[in-house]
Amino acid sequence: MSFKEKIINKSIPKHIAIIMDGNGRWAKKKGNKRIFGHKNGVQAVKDTVEAAGEIGVQYLTLYAFSTENWTRPKTEVDALMTLLVNAIKNEVDSLMKNNVRVKHIGNINSLPKKVAQKLNELINKTSSNTGLTLILAISYSSKWEITDAIKKISKQVKNNNIDVNDITDETISRNLATAEFPDPDLLIRTSGEYRLSNFLLWQIAYTEMYFTDTLWPDFRKENFYEAIYEFNKRNRRFGKTEDQI
Ligand code: FPP
Repeated sequence: MSFKEKIINKSIPKHIAIIMDGNGRWAKKKGNKRIFGHKNGVQAVKDTVEAAGEIGVQYLTLYAFSTENWTRPKTEVDALMTLLVNAIKNEVDSLMKNNVRVKHIGNINSLPKKVAQKLNELINKTSSNTGLTLILAISYSSKWEITDAIKKISKQVKNNNIDVNDITDETISRNLATAEFPDPDLLIRTSGEYRLSNFLLWQIAYTEMYFTDTLWPDFRKENFYEAIYEFNKRNRRFGKTEDQI
């Protein structure tokens, strides 16, 4: 029985976030340059978006480029930016056909003009779609996002729009880049690394984690469904006792 068949009548996570890792190592194993791994990672993105749509996942967040990734060699950064622009161009029709709504989290001002422009066009074009919401984390990091939220809240305090004593965790959530999305139920990281790498640190307080040795370019629909199968075995208590659930 496939993992898809095993999960079909089970609870499907509303929001899944993925740290797509292992592109460089995948390419190296094949005696190729790192960018070859990134290029092949695009097929894994397509498979995952399709897989999520097929079973009714509502939100899928993909960590495509962190603020720390800017420190990689310029050739790799430039190649990744070109890859993103091309992927957007090539996938727009399929995203429309599949009713996918695209959103972005991250520092849009730090992106090359062309990338920001293509991304904004894609977001606008897909904004009325009602199926899967695909959230692309590009030039994103949690520390950037939380710092930004603190600046926004400080201004609101300074302008007397909020009293400092009224600040709650909800206030913080509302000022994050993810304000309009629910917190992830499941976080997947590929490539056998057990790190969070500055990704959604606030939002994953009660998220289930799933780590797999599969390198991102090898990640296919069945790998995605296997992660959901494992998710269904978890007992989520959100700090309560077993009896209270
Ligand atoms: C991490 O692997 C991967 C990235 C930094 C880039 C991910 C980008 C894509 C899959 C390309 C397209 C994305 C979209 C949304 C169309 P790594 O380079 O850190 O690999 P390593 O750990 O093996 O070196």
